[in-house]
Amino acid sequence: MSPSSSQRKIVVTSALPYANGPIHIGHMVEYTQTDIWVRFQKMQGHECIYVCADDAHGTPIMLSAQAAGITPQQLIDRVKQEHEQDFADFGVGFDNFYSTHSEENKYFATTIYQRLRDGGHIATRTISQSYDPKAEMFLPDRFIKGTCPNCGAEDQYGDNCEVCGATYDPTELKNPRSVVTGETPIEKDSEQYFFKLGDFSDMLKEWTRAGHIQKEIANKMDEWLEDGLRDWDISRNAPYWGFEIPDAPGKYFYVWMDAPIGYLASFKNWCDRTGHDFDEYWKPDSKAELYHFIGKDIARFHTLFFPAMLYGAGFRMPTAVYCHGFLTVDGQKMSKSRGTNIKARTYLDHLNPEYLRYYFAAKLGSGIEDIDLNLHDFMSRVNSDLVGKVVNIASRCAGFIVKKFDGKLSDSVADNSLNEKFLTAAKTIAKDYEDREFAKAMREIMALADLANQYIDEQEPWVRIKDEAQQQNVQDTCSIGINCFRQLIILLKPVLPKLAAQAETFLNVEPLRWADLDNHLLGHTINKFKPLMTRIEQDKIDAIIEASKEVAEHKPQASPADSNIEPIADEISIDDFAKLDLRVARIVEAKAVKKADKLLQLTLDIGCEQRNVFAGIKAAYDPQDLQGKLTVMVANLAPRKMRFGVSEGMVLAAGPGGKEIYILSPDDGAKPGMRIK
Ligand code: 2FM
Ligand code: ZN
Repeated sequence: MSPSSSQRKIVVTSALPYANGPIHIGHMVEYTQTDIWVRFQKMQGHECIYVCADDAHGTPIMLSAQAAGITPQQLIDRVKQEHEQDFADFGVGFDNFYSTHSEENKYFATTIYQRLRDGGHIATRTISQSYDPKAEMFLPDRFIKGTCPNCGAEDQYGDNCEVCGATYDPTELKNPRSVVTGETPIEKDSEQYFFKLGDFSDMLKEWTRAGHIQKEIANKMDEWLEDGLRDWDISRNAPYWGFEIPDAPGKYFYVWMDAPIGYLASFKNWCDRTGHDFDEYWKPDSKAELYHFIGKDIARFHTLFFPAMLYGAGFRMPTAVYCHGFLTVDGQKMSKSRGTNIKARTYLDHLNPEYLRYYFAAKLGSGIEDIDLNLHDFMSRVNSDLVGKVVNIASRCAGFIVKKFDGKLSDSVADNSLNEKFLTAAKTIAKDYEDREFAKAMREIMALADLANQYIDEQEPWVRIKDEAQQQNVQDTCSIGINCFRQLIILLKPVLPKLAAQAETFLNVEPLRWADLDNHLLGHTINKFKPLMTRIEQDKIDAIIEASKEVAEHKPQASPADSNIEPIADEISIDDFAKLDLRVARIVEAKAVKKADKLLQLTLDIGCEQRNVFAGIKAAYDPQDLQGKLTVMVANLAPRKMRFGVSEGMVLAAGPGGKEIYILSPDDGAKPGMRIK
């Protein structure tokens, strides 16, 4: 299509994956969502440029490389290749995939920093932080472990106890040790550079309420905005893998400072490769649109910190930031032991990526709810919708056309109202794609596929073909059927680009665009039909699960740091056990605790009263998903005063921590207040 006044210029990004680990199917929700949206825009004839990069800086990458005995550069080069291959094989069509460890990113990080500094938005202060004297490096909180000062649990991270939920400073940990060397950390002063986020408070209050971000996210950001935005430490001390701050030798930009700037860097690299003008897209009054697709866990960086940096440094702001939820598998968090923590590559080794693209599309809406990959539903939905409905239309019609009519479709058909009906429905479907309501679009497309199959059933071409007088009728029926199939392929092409390419070969047509929906094929010769997609077999899914299982070895003497399975604690008597008053509790309310990265505040109904409990399960659960659930609590635990209030008991949960924590739930029928004996 030649550029016209209605042609939009659109820049789209997905979050940058860390360059020290593989892509998982959890990541693929976002890349699939973004890729579908981008492909839809391209099919409309818009200029839509999709850029991404590896997030290549930071302490974990520096230490992973060290552990592997290679340089960080070698590590990020290797991982980038793997990521690019995974994305390409999943059909994710980036216009540019780059790295935050690039000249362009150094330029933009430096420029943005200098402009912010010159505008008076950078402050320096001396702060005290934990330092490993042996490794001669400052330690991020997660690189310090020790005994919880509150409950005595061993092997807890430096900022929060995953057993009792207490939050604290690393300095409060008992027996703290550096995860890097095992050495006891000391406190050391150093000067750091802060971005004065509060300078942009008024602008952000307005911007977050002006339709650029989803309501739920705006509400969350309000908690921060209302509390007053604190200065953000954007510097880290050497040794650090990143860019040195220009006027501060030995200080580096914190990985989260230069990561989103990687969007600009990747886009600049695309401009240089293709001869486009960067400023046209990134100047403050740019007519181009800019969209960031991200997971809800990193909303703060994209809806507060990054827009403020862009604004303060004289760049345009995002048109919108679209958050999505997390992926669960069979209703539970992905788990290494259950084999549901599936790498993209493991999936690709066994199944067609378009099955998963379709299933994600069939589940995705514009909100931030988590989406569930139910493996049984996945198999039956793909088999019934794609193989049983869509591809089936072509296979039912193509045989007659090829064998009886030399592959030629009718020159004209008396009644193509079915194809017209598809055309009308396509308008709603286009709006659904635009609004990221993919699940709705997939339902509507499958309803059209049902109509086409019903039509063929009613016409019974396999009966009529035996009657010499009915030949024209059979050719017309099958021509209408093939045109329905062609329209369905156009409607599904953003989701299933590979199937669409195979269908284009079969239909003997140029790559299909949205505008081709009403160019019905008449008097046109098609090619012989080859099966376009086969059914998913259960054994393939079983093989993926098996290949993804990582069994924790049972080593009785292993310390928790060495194994996922904790050693069994010291024996207790039945009398000790009887002291515990365990109760069934209903979670009446669950909400995030402001400024606590790991805590949720739970209101628990235990029949006779309600309790307020803080639990360190924020990484594992969305508060909304917990409301109404039954769990088990220790009801006679002495109340504990925590930084955020008094915790009146403890909920029982299992797991190594982080995202892998599972609260225990009694069977249906249990009532709040029932005692567990
Ligand atoms: O959370 C993450 O995986 C980060 N690597 C995302 C960065 S997105 C952007 F800011 F670069
Ligand atoms: Zn604790």
